[in-house]
Amino acid sequence: MRCFLYAYFLCLCLLFSLEKGCAFEGRKIAESQHSHTIEVSSLFPSTSCKASTKDLNSKNKASLKVVHKHGPCSELYQDKPNAAPTHTEILLQDQTRVNSIHSRLSNSRTSGGNDMKVTDSTTVPAKDGSSVGAGNYVVTVGLGTPKKELSLIFDTGSDITWTQCQPCVKSCYRQKEQIFDPTKSTSYANISCSSPVCNSLNSATGNTPGCASSTCVYGIQYGDSSFSVGFFGTEKLTLTSDDAFEKVYFGCGQNNQGLFGGSAGLLGLGRDQLSIVSQTASKYKKIFSYCLPSSSSSTGFLTFGGLASKSSKFTPLATISAGPSFYGLDFTGISVGGRKLPISASVFSNAGALIDSGTVITRLPPAAYSALRDLFRKSMSKYPLTKALSILDTCYDFSNYPNISVPKIGFFFSSGIEVDIDARGIFYANSKSQVCLAFAGNSDATDVLIFGNVQQKTLEVFYDGSAGKVGFAPGGCT
Ligand SMILES: *[C@@H]1O[C@H](CO)[C@@H](O)[C@H](O)[C@H]1NC(C)=O
Ligand SMILES: *[C@@H]1O[C@H](CO)[C@@H](O)[C@H](O)[C@H]1NC(C)=O
Repeated sequence: MRCFLYAYFLCLCLLFSLEKGCAFEGRKIAESQHSHTIEVSSLFPSTSCKASTKDLNSKNKASLKVVHKHGPCSELYQDKPNAAPTHTEILLQDQTRVNSIHSRLSNSRTSGGNDMKVTDSTTVPAKDGSSVGAGNYVVTVGLGTPKKELSLIFDTGSDITWTQCQPCVKSCYRQKEQIFDPTKSTSYANISCSSPVCNSLNSATGNTPGCASSTCVYGIQYGDSSFSVGFFGTEKLTLTSDDAFEKVYFGCGQNNQGLFGGSAGLLGLGRDQLSIVSQTASKYKKIFSYCLPSSSSSTGFLTFGGLASKSSKFTPLATISAGPSFYGLDFTGISVGGRKLPISASVFSNAGALIDSGTVITRLPPAAYSALRDLFRKSMSKYPLTKALSILDTCYDFSNYPNISVPKIGFFFSSGIEVDIDARGIFYANSKSQVCLAFAGNSDATDVLIFGNVQQKTLEVFYDGSAGKVGFAPGGCT
């Protein structure tokens, strides 16, 4: 937990309105009202982790360090239990996640009826749910008594928290840390099938719970072939040394498969009553915030409770009736280089929008994406275009440019706020000769807009589930 000095430092900077003077390591060279000038090299992670050095824990809040799963700040990466996927693989998996979110919202998850059995993976359909994807961020929490440290992918797009559990009745994928053994924990308890909370798995997972020797069985699948099935139990969850919760409902996975990249499972931060946000509501009042670092060689934070940064701009949370677990937002427009795209607000309201920590690339309604791309290409016309990278069709060859000037991109929301995307939230960089605009269009105008995690980089995103609002502040982390 040594990464937070920088955040403190930044807060001070913000307080004294010196944020531009605090530009990170000289990377951002200049900033005009409507454009960023950046060094192309700043779009790439360095080979070593540059975490900062102070603990952000203070009264009424609990902070965890956030790292990208596939980078030098991640323990998972250092051990290389799984080779990091290529950018093409990440983007493909991202599309799988997006497809499953879209189908989940259009089917309203009414299909149900998938009865979960611990030993039978064929009962797990691979078409519904949300893909965990590969472009994700992990935090380390403590589980059980005595406490075992586990690195979990945190996901605002799903609810149930689970980890792989011994004896892995059917299968466990390879993870970096020791697999959790509930028999070695004095605080573990099974949930019985007759408990009402067993039934609440219906809404948290989209699947009917199963029953094995009177123990409740959960199952969740994530769009691609990833899934976890196992016993539903309660355990002590330790977030920080000061903040522990007894009897937190979680999944003890006995049959797990998928793209979890060496992590031990998933921390569900959605809006359902079984999410960690809801289960810790008595203490944190459904307040949490995070900052996703600009690259895999720096660190961010996930904080429960606490206050939003003073520079936060707020907009109301919207509820998506077909997917009440998601954090909906009312998007109203996009600007490029200070010019608002000439598209009707109904393009956004017809699609609806949500913010997701687990989707990599922001997905826009088709009309919004083509308008964004056209204006972006126009203002970038002095740089040579190059071949597409998977779903990204606007890529530049910056090999001959040490520094580039990029139009600012802003998102507008119903409260009237405009949120500026960080310069490193505009691009997805494969190599200096292939740096791509990190946006894609949905294929259908009614598919939901997804505010993805590349565009959230370095923003402090503050969720207040009690007051029903989300806040954005620049410079939350590096
Ligand atoms: C939980 O339930 C499973 C299935 O019935 C059983 O094998 C396991 O021993 C139980 N664990 C505890 C701690 O009761
Ligand atoms: C790029 O920016 C760096 C850092 O400010 C500066 O030293 C360098 O001269 C710039 N290069 C060009 C070609 O503008």
